[in-house]
Formats: sequence, C-alpha cells, structure tokens
Amino acid sequence: MRILAIETSCDDTGITIFEAKDGTQNAEFKILADNLASQVKIHNQYGGVYPILAKREHEKNLPILLKKTFREAGFFQERSLGRSDGDGQRKFLAKNFRAESVKKSSFIDLICVTYGPGLEMCLWEGITFAKDLARGWGVPLVPVNHMEGHVLSVFGKNKGKFKVSKLKTPVLSLLVSGGHTQLVLSKKFMKYEIIGETLDDAVGEAFDKVARMLDLPYPGGPHISRLAEQARKSETRNSKFEIKFPRPMLNSNNFDFSYAGLKTAVLYFLKKNPAADKARVALEFENAAIECLTYKTARAIEKYKIKTLIVAGGVAANKHLRREMTKITSKKIKLLFPTLELARDNAVMIGIAGYLNFLKNKKKVPRQGSIKATGNLRL
Ligand code: KG4
Ligand code: ZN
Repeated sequence: MRILAIETSCDDTGITIFEAKDGTQNAEFKILADNLASQVKIHNQYGGVYPILAKREHEKNLPILLKKTFREAGFFQERSLGRSDGDGQRKFLAKNFRAESVKKSSFIDLICVTYGPGLEMCLWEGITFAKDLARGWGVPLVPVNHMEGHVLSVFGKNKGKFKVSKLKTPVLSLLVSGGHTQLVLSKKFMKYEIIGETLDDAVGEAFDKVARMLDLPYPGGPHISRLAEQARKSETRNSKFEIKFPRPMLNSNNFDFSYAGLKTAVLYFLKKNPAADKARVALEFENAAIECLTYKTARAIEKYKIKTLIVAGGVAANKHLRREMTKITSKKIKLLFPTLELARDNAVMIGIAGYLNFLKNKKKVPRQGSIKATGNLRL
C-alpha cells in the first residue's frame, strides 16, 4: 500500500510518501520520499510562531512540496504539472494527478493528515489540501492526532526501511514539545491515558522564552542546549554568580508540571544580574527544567510498573534529557527515543500513526465532511 502523509499543525510543512505492509504490531515501512519545509527564518523575527504567516506558508508550500515528493519518489513525469499558483494548482493537481502524469502502478492508496492539536488555521490548510487530493484521487483519508504521531515517531526513520515492533506494556510516554508536556500511560498498545501534564507553559515553550531573554534565536531549545553543554563541560565552583532556579511542583503529589514560575525566576535573575554569564544561566535553567521531567517520569515508572518508556517531541532532541532518562531506566525498562530528524514535527510520524489507525479500525475511515481541525485535540 502506498501512503501520502501531510503535517501542517504548526510551523513545519511536512509531506512523506511511503510503502507499508500490513500488521499493526509488526508493520513494515519503506520511505520513498520525505520533505519538510521549515518556517524558522520567517518566524525568527517575531520570537515565536506568527499564525497567519504560518498558514500562508503552508498554503504556498504544500503544492510545491507535493510535487517535489512525487518527483523524488520517482512517480511522475514533470511536464503535466506546470501551473504554479496556489489554489489553482491545488485543484489542478487533484484533478490531473491520476491521469498520464502518474504511473498507474505507483499511485497513492491512502492519505493521512494531522487534524489536531495545533494552530487551527494551519491545520485547516493541511486538511483542505488532503481532502481535495483524496476526493480527486478517490482514496480514503485518515485524520491523525499529532500527539499520537509523536508517540509512534520512535519507530520511524526519515529514509529507508523500518518496522513497528511489539512493545512491552505498560508503556509510558513523556511527550515534550513547544505546545505540550505530558505523561501518557498506555496499558495497551495505542490506548492512551494522560496521567500528568503542564498546568501552564510547555517545557519547549519555556526553552524558547528563556532563549529570547538571552537574545538567542527562535526556536531557542537547541541554542540553550548548546550553551548549557558548553558550561557543563567547563563548570567551575568559584563562578561569580551562584545560580539556583526553582523546580516547580517537583514535590507535588501528582504527575503534573509547571514551567511559568521557572521562566519568571530566570527573568528576575537576569534583571538583577544583567552581566551574568549566559551559558551558566542556560545551564542552570536546563538542569531545572529537565530535573522536573526526570523526577516525575521516574515516579510514574515506579507507580505503574512501566516496561517501556518513550520520550518524544521536539525537546526529546535535548542531550541532557536523553542522558538523564537513560539514568532512570534500568535494564528491565526499554527506553525509546525518535531519531533527531523525527523528534521535531514531521510527516513520517503522521503516516505511521495514520496507517496503524487505519489497520486498527479495520480499514474504515470517517466521512470526509466530519474531519475538522481541532486545535485542542487530546489523546
Ligand atoms: O515537536 P516540535 O518540533 O513542535 C511542536 O509540536 O511544538 O517541538 C518544538 C520545540 C521548541 O520549543 C524547541 O525549542 C524545542 O522543541 N527543542 C528543544 C531542542 N530542540 C528543539 N528543546 C530543548 N533542547 C533541544 N535540543
Ligand atoms: Zn509536535
């Protein structure tokens, strides 16, 4: 089966084409082409994602990326897809793609698209595009929860072949991104129960905001992490500023998180100490932010007798987080991270989640009319 997956929930436009073979717990995938158009440069000047600009970029990028992805998958002859205006081209693509331009034997059988959570106007761009194509080509459309995509991203690669392997349950997923900080329990594969989450800012958002305070570019996570790693290597006891930031809710009797207080603590510290060494601030912030994640995850592992731990989402790229998570998992617990390419938003994870749900639902899909962008969709 050939599958096209589309992701537009925030500021990355992702399109992937892959082949998949049946079997929910041992499905085999082969990526034929995978593309991601990042909007980082556009949003950098605003210090965060500017929704209307993001929506326009998705609208512009989708047909371009689709063509590129089809070309890379070796699926069609270029000449019949000449038009380049956004909406006109989308309708043109949907109508004419099936014809001579695509080799019949290599046509798409299923489309998967993110329908939430995320920025609704961005989600709609992907959904309308996917609906046009599904209608034009007469193929089923599977709506995908972006967070389930992050969970299942640990199986993927953005090139070549990979398999979905059977996981020992219960599975605990720590989902850490720009919009989410959640601990999710799966007593059964692909069944989810949120056992804890942030009460205010997401951890990725805290990294981004602190980066902004330190005049680092958006998104700030990788920059803070780089500075913190530097400072960690050259830590000296007699540094001029003794920095200690709070670990909010560390001892609360639940699995929730809070990052607003930590962010404010950094802000006040910088106001009082404008000459503080940025790398040391980054280090102490990162230590505090990650310690909250590690501590609560360790407690959840113990309470629920977890057999598999998944750590996914943009912040799962963080080196310190990876090291600390390795420390809290014994040999008895399998620890899974996505590859660095698939930690951030991407279409591969949407394809995996869409295909596995398609199989789980015995190849039934919802009516197209019922598929709607759902900004606050939950697992
Ligand atoms: O999953 P993602 O790409 O998008 C959302 O769904 O939000 O996550 C993006 C978030 C941003 O806040 C970014 O700063 C953070 O992931 N991030 C990191 C690192 N790389 C990305 N945070 C900490 N350390 C990193 N190395
Ligand atoms: Zn995400």
